[in-house]
Amino acid sequence: MKQKIIIDTDPGQDDAVAILLALASPEELDVLAIVCVAGNVPLAQNSTNARKIVELSGRLDIPIYAGCVRPMRRSLVTAEHVHGKTGLDGPTLPEPKIELRQQHGVDFLIATLRAAEPRTITLCTLGPLTNVAMALVTAPEIASRVRAIVMMGGAYFEVGNITPSAEFNVYVDPEAADVVLRSGIPITMVPLDASHGVLSTRARLDRIGALGNRCGKAVVKLLNFSERFDLAKYGSKGAPLHDPCVIAYLLQPDLFEGRQINVTVETHSELTMGMTVADYWQITDRPRNVHYLRSADADRFFDLLTRRLARLP
Ligand code: BDR
Ligand code: CA
Repeated sequence: MKQKIIIDTDPGQDDAVAILLALASPEELDVLAIVCVAGNVPLAQNSTNARKIVELSGRLDIPIYAGCVRPMRRSLVTAEHVHGKTGLDGPTLPEPKIELRQQHGVDFLIATLRAAEPRTITLCTLGPLTNVAMALVTAPEIASRVRAIVMMGGAYFEVGNITPSAEFNVYVDPEAADVVLRSGIPITMVPLDASHGVLSTRARLDRIGALGNRCGKAVVKLLNFSERFDLAKYGSKGAPLHDPCVIAYLLQPDLFEGRQINVTVETHSELTMGMTVADYWQITDRPRNVHYLRSADADRFFDLLTRRLARLP
């Protein structure tokens, strides 16, 4: 059966690839909307980016909403040092013609979930969790309508990428992550522990470039840009492709291995703010609120991504 999904995102090169993967998979995924959130770059810029990516894909029917301009309690932290000034540096994509919907992204989430049958919509979060948490705080009854949240965020064994102990998406809005982790909604977490195994090596990017279509070429330019930061930082043979793991998990869950554990987020200590404390060895009796993905089969992941991108213009 087709899964109904809403993509909540702050594009971002890897967010862009995730969106393209979802839009290239209409047999399995019914993308109800894309909702933008402040994260990699401020909201106005990443809402433009989302519109550019949707136009690139040719799926002009996908509604795009703008959500929260800043985290629940904190000032926004952005990541231009990774993603470039626009958040989508790399290819030159035309100024988008499709317009943002007028409704606020959080109001859209609430209205859509209120109208849905119980446990029918999956939320795919590729950025800070502000929009989802604000929707849950405003209308707690919508939790019962959500089938699952599949979120890119957090880290434990790989520790942090924006501070020594915190992953970017959780760090930007730890209070929002806390609301989501305590919501009782089934959560699958794609932490750095899984995404750091999914590297866009030269050979893998060459296969995508060889598709010859405009989306494949754009993906190579996007990832050529964003990988520079990670290559210098980690000295690896490619950059981690974080956000597309969320969509790949929906399409082919057997690409990933994980276990059901408790994850709690630090919201007090300045030193470890936004750290996701994963009880991977089940040392406590805290509730097992998260299906925590620890590893991924990168070769099969890139096979899937490449085959799906080949379907796009
Ligand atoms: C996450 O942070 C962002 O920069 C990426 O788009 C991804 O969602 C990885 O920590
Ligand atoms: Ca992202």
